Amino acid sequence: MSTEKRVAIVTGASQGIGEAVSNFLVAKGYRVVGNSRNIKPSGYDDQINIAGDIGDPEVAQKVVDTAVERFGRIDTLINNAGQFIAKPFVEYTVEDYERLLSVNLSGFFHITQRAAAQMLKQGTGHIVNITTSLADQPLASVPAALASLTKGGLNAVTRSLAIEYADKGIRVNAISPGIIKTPMHAPETHEFLANLHPMKRMGEIREIVQAVTFLEEAGFVTGEILHVDGGQHAGHW
Ligand SMILES: NC(=O)c1ccc[n+]([C@@H]2O[C@H](COP(=O)([O-])OP(=O)(O)OC[C@H]3O[C@@H](n4cnc5c(N)ncnc54)[C@H](OP(=O)(O)O)[C@@H]3O)[C@@H](O)[C@H]2O)c1
Repeated sequence: MSTEKRVAIVTGASQGIGEAVSNFLVAKGYRVVGNSRNIKPSGYDDQINIAGDIGDPEVAQKVVDTAVERFGRIDTLINNAGQFIAKPFVEYTVEDYERLLSVNLSGFFHITQRAAAQMLKQGTGHIVNITTSLADQPLASVPAALASLTKGGLNAVTRSLAIEYADKGIRVNAISPGIIKTPMHAPETHEFLANLHPMKRMGEIREIVQAVTFLEEAGFVTGEILHVDGGQHAGHW
């Protein structure tokens, strides 16, 4: 049996969900390449951080090259970098639109193409896209059509790539969070946000890490949109 450590790429790894996922994976014995625009060097031998905008194909190339050249392979890609802008549809600016398409979609596309090419060579790999339950269950009190446009696209491409790669050793899944207590949300908004879930609370970062853990070990699961959202996607409440 191979004793080689698994290798993961985590985008948006400087804070919030991405930081927790990369810390967890390193603690589990993975080697990790982390990315975000402002990420600092990691200080661990088993994590190399590459700063840059993941919407830029050159940054995506550098992240993938680092994983392959320094750690030899790519077992897991966690497409976590993402931004969220909630506003009424007609108030979105061209800059809002371009920013969300860049990080949420180009930030998926460039790195996933490159990582998938490496996984195809290996004949094994796992891609996890972090989306949002707002794409399945919009909320009247939080208009966020660009979240649905971009993250809904990630849900769709998750299924599409799951089928394309099902017989090639590569699984493709998504985690669809409700509203999670990360630096994205100021503490004074937490009570309002808690009430946007049937379970009447926000999610914790560790609950997204649990979903990553499950999907990593779930060899017969692909094309799954795993909702971790206190019941938001299940219906009206
Ligand atoms: N928190 C929630 O309630 C919630 C709900 C549903 C879905 N999600 C999704 O979960 C993911 C993580 O959310 P979070 O709450 O942990 O967010 P967060 O605390 O705001 O962190 C976002 C991370 O993405 C990085 N990032 C942003 N733009 C980037 C870019 N262009 N290129 C590279 N990195 C970039 C940020 O670092 P830099 O600033 O250094 O670039 C940071 O590390 C996102 O995709 C988000 O849409 C979150």
